[in-house]
Amino acid sequence: GRSDSRGGGGTGSGPSTSGRRSAADVFGGAGRGSGRGRGRGPQGRGGGSSAAPAAASDSDDDDEAEDWGPGQGPRGPDLPPMNPTYRYGDPSLPVGRYRRQILWLVENHAVTIIVGETGSGKTTQVPQFLLEAGWAESGYAIACTQPRRVAASTVAARVAEEMGVSLGVEVGYAVRFDNAISERTRIKYLTDGVLLREMMDDPLLTQYSVIMVDEAHERSLATDMLLGLLKKVLKRRPDLRLIISSATLEAGKLRDFFDTSTSGSTARRRAALAAAAAAAGAGVGGVACSEPDRTPAVVTVEGRTHPVQVHYLQQPAADYVTAAVSAAVDIHCEDLPGDILIFLTGQDEVQTAVAQLEEHSRRLGGGGGGGPGRPSYSLRMMPLPLYAGLPGAAQSAVFRPAPRGVRKVVAATNIAETSLTLEGVVYVVDCCFVKQRAYNPLTGLESLLVAPLSQASAAQRAGRAGRVRAGHCFRLCREQDFAQLPKVTVPEMQRSNLVGMVLQLKSLGIDNVMRFEWLAPPPAEAMVRALEELHALRVLDDDARLTKDVGLALAALPLDPSLGAALLASRQLGCVEELLTVVALMSVPHVWAPAAGSLRAADEAKAKFAAVEGDGVTMLNVHQAWRSSGRSSAWAGRHFLNASSLYRADEARDQLLGLLRRHGLLPANTPPPSCGTDMEPVCRALAAGQFMAAAVYEGTQYNPLAAESDPGVHVYRLVRYTAHKTAPLKLRIHNSSVLWRSAPPCVVYRSVQQADSGWYEMQGVTAVRPEWLVELAPHMFHRPK
Ligand code: CDP
Ligand code: MG
Repeated sequence: GRSDSRGGGGTGSGPSTSGRRSAADVFGGAGRGSGRGRGRGPQGRGGGSSAAPAAASDSDDDDEAEDWGPGQGPRGPDLPPMNPTYRYGDPSLPVGRYRRQILWLVENHAVTIIVGETGSGKTTQVPQFLLEAGWAESGYAIACTQPRRVAASTVAARVAEEMGVSLGVEVGYAVRFDNAISERTRIKYLTDGVLLREMMDDPLLTQYSVIMVDEAHERSLATDMLLGLLKKVLKRRPDLRLIISSATLEAGKLRDFFDTSTSGSTARRRAALAAAAAAAGAGVGGVACSEPDRTPAVVTVEGRTHPVQVHYLQQPAADYVTAAVSAAVDIHCEDLPGDILIFLTGQDEVQTAVAQLEEHSRRLGGGGGGGPGRPSYSLRMMPLPLYAGLPGAAQSAVFRPAPRGVRKVVAATNIAETSLTLEGVVYVVDCCFVKQRAYNPLTGLESLLVAPLSQASAAQRAGRAGRVRAGHCFRLCREQDFAQLPKVTVPEMQRSNLVGMVLQLKSLGIDNVMRFEWLAPPPAEAMVRALEELHALRVLDDDARLTKDVGLALAALPLDPSLGAALLASRQLGCVEELLTVVALMSVPHVWAPAAGSLRAADEAKAKFAAVEGDGVTMLNVHQAWRSSGRSSAWAGRHFLNASSLYRADEARDQLLGLLRRHGLLPANTPPPSCGTDMEPVCRALAAGQFMAAAVYEGTQYNPLAAESDPGVHVYRLVRYTAHKTAPLKLRIHNSSVLWRSAPPCVVYRSVQQADSGWYEMQGVTAVRPEWLVELAPHMFHRPK
């Protein structure tokens, strides 16, 4: 057997809060402090049944990263037979065959990269393997990060079910403003953003023994940032293990990024530790060295995938939603078994498609008999939506297998690409577009935009058709156009506003953000732009250090910097009570429920709460009415509001209030100051946070061909300077805003979205007075003449 002690020179402290270091201590200056090897490791593993040969791990300094196919695991003389029975999990999944290899690699390597097809069981099974192997003993937990909120909660629910435990106890999830975790949680699914937040309190993430960064191929902003930070943490915590899982072969890049084995000092340290262990007579088959192999290991999980035949259009489609619907209907009318999965870009498109499909379904009948004079199909079509904000019940309908005689036709956003697996899909219809963030550092505008899909993503989407048997993928573009699509998706880091990220790095003590080790560095202009914006918000001082009053406070709030700044400003303006509500509602997505088919009714419902001051104050009205209704879901439903988002906003509100008090930003024992019925302070506070997003009314453009009653387009111009000289920016108010038709002379907005027509459409709009901007940010604006 082998000893469980791995604490060569470690301090042996548990995951308590004592001895935590401040972020600046950990990430700030170079080379302070040494590693904290601790006396722990996989312990109590069912009588040592799966111990791997420690000798092998100690003598492979020069090994290349392993890349094993099935059945070629590490073989050692004393490798015990594999335990064929699982306590937890689903042994039929492809990843099950790699269980022992994965466990061995994780034990012996600081970083293990798992590559495997979507649906092979990486997300649901690997944390269970680790738990069973003892990685969550002595108070440690296993973290698994997800780039998407929905994935974190659905996967946690699934794993809890597989383990036969209730969600939120042993297995839990944590996403911003919503979690189900307890002291006893051993497997925690969380968004990468939440783990980054946890780093602020505990930079070495001492409560975790293993961190699995899942869906790394998505290269979300938070994932990239997390990987850079974890690389630093690993240097300080030889006991920590990192697993990176990816659906595609990003492995090469990841492996190079984490390969620190070549650095002379590490190699020397390893050699010294190995020699010391040998001298103690425990080198071979005995004590595992506390210093793991720094060469990342790579495991490729061979999934069971079936061939997928790809089809293209002969002629480009004019409208991909309609084209997708008719493709699905054509497939359905072939009357062969198998579900259909349609990829669209957003919730509204998904809803349109589902409404159209429902119409076709009624017309076509099926599942027994069409009406008189209609063709009869053996299957009835069941259209279902799938997107991030979908209420829980509707979500589980998507995952339930179709009843007999029914074909599921799921219209989904990008979340079905890799995060969630649908069983039974044989046909994929892909619009070949995706909604993604885009950022132009010249204009400083970050917007959501429907962009052409990358070929790598298209391949992923096609793969969804090959899970049960050979499938078909229908791409709604011509083959020659497909060849023009970008090969891979640009990492989010390179197309985002970096203000939030720079603020977080600064608060973790990383002063020189330009020199941070990135998997792929963000564009320098975007970085400079972020520093400028933070300076304008007075978050950074002239030496680019976090300011005591604003900077440190803002970093403590899990909010967009502009909303955080508005909340902080509300303290002087005496409207904290109101701003807590406004920023909470502006931070949770999907407050307004999808109004399938009844846009008018939804607009009328919204009009009941509309405030002339804009969308922020409208949110206050919504919240007020929601409270008076006794927080009734039925009431919310009637008013086209999403009850679960409203509950989340309440949660967010409480959490923010708690944070303000905990950080001494608000007195503990008095209620937060309120401005009563006067809404001016609320608008001022919003302006104080969002002055970088201020726009003034320029005039109204009339379409000469439109009817005389056509209200025209109210055109706005950004107030702050932009370096964008070539194309004038076209800003207007999005029709989801209550200020859509009125044209206030000056507004601030929460976000912009770029429409097909090229307009940047402002959302979350508040009317403000231009002179406030001058008062609030004299360094930014000149007094209007
Ligand atoms: O992470 P990876 O894509 O490799 O696979 P996974 O998410 O662990 O999924 C493994 C299996 O569990 C698949 O067959 C999924 O369909 C199933 N699963 C499920 O039925 N319900 C969930 N909420 C999550 C996974
Ligand atoms: Mg997964």
